Amino acid sequence: MAFVVTEDCIRCKYMDCVEVCPIDCFFEGENMLVIHPDECISCGVCVPECSAKAILPDDHPENAKWLEHNREFSKKWPRITIPGIPPKDGDEYNGVSEKLQRFFSPKPAPR
Ligand code: F3S
Repeated sequence: MAFVVTEDCIRCKYMDCVEVCPIDCFFEGENMLVIHPDECISCGVCVPECSAKAILPDDHPENAKWLEHNREFSKKWPRITIPGIPPKDGDEYNGVSEKLQRFFSPKPAPR
């Protein structure tokens, strides 16, 4: 079992999770983060840090697509070890539905 970042991160990208991860297994896209599921040690310390409640265990059937999403984009995006500045309008998107279809960007974070 690993933890994965789900839809609720999109456009919120608070990044409090990055600070606490003991093995730095977060990767940064333009408007969301993902976890490398093969690196995650399932310690769970990031879960309560996320104000968007976006981090969930991968062993629920409904999270299977997020496991693949995290695996795919953790190979494409840069590793993030220090939290950046969250989007100014992130709170407006906290809890909004269908963020994957409406807002997800496959681009890596600009560097
Ligand atoms: Fe995303 Fe929550 Fe981390 S919004 S960046 S999973 S603190």
